Amino acid sequence: MSWLIKTLTSTLGRKLIMSLTGLFLIIFLLVHLAGNLQLLKDDGGMAFNIYAKFMTSNPLIKTTSYILYATFIIHILLSALLTINNLRARGAGYKVNRLSEGVTWSSKNMGILGTIIFIFLVAHLKHFWYEMHWGGIPMVTYEDVTVKDLYLVVATAYGELWYVLFYVVGMIALGFHLYHGFQSAFQTLGLNHLKYTPAIKVVGIGFSLIVPALYALIPLLMYLS
Ligand code: HEM
Repeated sequence: MSWLIKTLTSTLGRKLIMSLTGLFLIIFLLVHLAGNLQLLKDDGGMAFNIYAKFMTSNPLIKTTSYILYATFIIHILLSALLTINNLRARGAGYKVNRLSEGVTWSSKNMGILGTIIFIFLVAHLKHFWYEMHWGGIPMVTYEDVTVKDLYLVVATAYGELWYVLFYVVGMIALGFHLYHGFQSAFQTLGLNHLKYTPAIKVVGIGFSLIVPALYALIPLLMYLS
């Protein structure tokens, strides 16, 4: 138990947990995107609604969801602690000890970017996740399956320009957050190597550009359709 307390109370230990939780969230982003892209199918939401039903009723996926919620909470709490500590250190005139090689705009603003993503996440979960689980969503029947019409909730939300713009801003913040976070996670875990670091950098840049762009494209295309 003392190792856990030591890890949680040391800056390096906290960065280590942030890296591991961050990498888990990166995998989640890919899985979530694959599911959400079904919103763009020209089938009136059938594939997406059946997928959403499966994701909320399969016991294995439900268990993984609880791990996901815990991961989000740990990542957010530790990042808030690290940001506060860094601000205090800066205020006291100490040079902040950075583990990353280069200081970029993203690396300096991880706290602000994380806060924008947090606001996005709260609104997002309230609008879709809460509605799916506890809201009064109308049902829809496809041949012999009756499911909640979550597609209708999403399509209605993306019918409003301000909501679409809110998503686009959220995804720009996510892109910058991932740009630093992706490479930083590998560095913190000690996985930097003369041979592999350039490849990790390229994959990180690609991921932080393509994934948020695809997420942003969904509300934009649904608004325009
Ligand atoms: C176009 C962009 C997005 C769309 C259309 C979308 C759609 C949805 C929908 C419909 C749900 C409810 C599904 C359900 O409860 O089964 C959901 C849940 C969720 N979304 Fe998103 N999402 C988007 C982007 C994001 C992003 C960028 C993040 C993370 C930063 C995120 C994090 C989550 C989380 C944590 C849940 C709860 C998952 C669970 O219960 O297992 N979403 N999303």
